[in-house]
Amino acid sequence: MSGQDPILSINNIEVKYHEVILVLKGVSIEVPRGGIVALLGANGAGKSTTLKAVSGLLKHEDGGVTDGSIEFMGKRIDRLGADKIAKMGVVQVIEGRRVFEHLTVEQNLKVGAHLRRDGKSVKEGLEMVYHYFPRLREKRTEISGFVSGGEQQMTVVGRALMTNPKLILLDEPSMGLAPLLIHEIFNIVTRLNQEENISILLVEQNAKLALSVAPYAYVMENGRIVMADTADTLRENPDIKDFYLGLTDVGGRKSFRDVKHYKRRKRWLA
Ligand SMILES: Nc1ncnc2c1ncn2[C@@H]1O[C@H](COP(=O)(O)OP(=O)(O)OP(=O)(O)O)[C@@H](O)[C@H]1O
Ligand SMILES: [Mg+2]
Repeated sequence: MSGQDPILSINNIEVKYHEVILVLKGVSIEVPRGGIVALLGANGAGKSTTLKAVSGLLKHEDGGVTDGSIEFMGKRIDRLGADKIAKMGVVQVIEGRRVFEHLTVEQNLKVGAHLRRDGKSVKEGLEMVYHYFPRLREKRTEISGFVSGGEQQMTVVGRALMTNPKLILLDEPSMGLAPLLIHEIFNIVTRLNQEENISILLVEQNAKLALSVAPYAYVMENGRIVMADTADTLRENPDIKDFYLGLTDVGGRKSFRDVKHYKRRKRWLA
């Protein structure tokens, strides 16, 4: 993307786990200031690894950026620890809506508050979260392990919001949720972007959903970016339609490449 003045710039990074398992092989992604960018890809493509490389959480899994660089607001962050990166205004919402199950919803939110970058009070933070997630206000004294999946997802996004972030790395917020709830959460994400000017890098397997909120997207396959374009263009791309949007029937969908190969084979046989 030609993005002028990106808030996040991932430059040709290589990532390895345990110094030997090569997972990302030259990935470059830009998120413009105030933008929403989607990162699409099948299981195991390396989407979560990309987000962890940015947030610094990779280091907690014995992973590392072994080549390339990552810049946030013009500053190099790929060698910084996760706490430093968080203090700069980057927060990752990890996949699987990990609440602290034994704590109440509000206690979960307060966990995010210790990373607040500015002097705003915890109370102000909570008010902001409850403004966007009125359901959480209703559930604030309930044990988070017992609220619904959608409310847990709201809780983890709310907790991220409590850090007063400039950039949210959002990993598969739709996973396992009912369509109505997904719709509600994505609406709120869009509002956070528009009203609070929070930039968002959104990882999703549900391409239709992601392309409905992100004007620009990258497609990742096996640790590489195989496509990057506007949502409008990607929606019309036949390979994307086949594999990610499920608009046509191509049988077994093992990978994005298989779809392309399948189509080529079919053309050749025809
Ligand atoms: N801690 C780890 N140690 C070793 N290998 C890992 C580790 N975490 C992930 N991997 C490997 O890295 C690859 C990419 O995983 P990643 O979780 O980034 O994919 P993903 O695109 O997020 O997939 P999904 O859609 O299933 O969440 C996979 O092959 C995975 O097995
Ligand atoms: Mg993942």
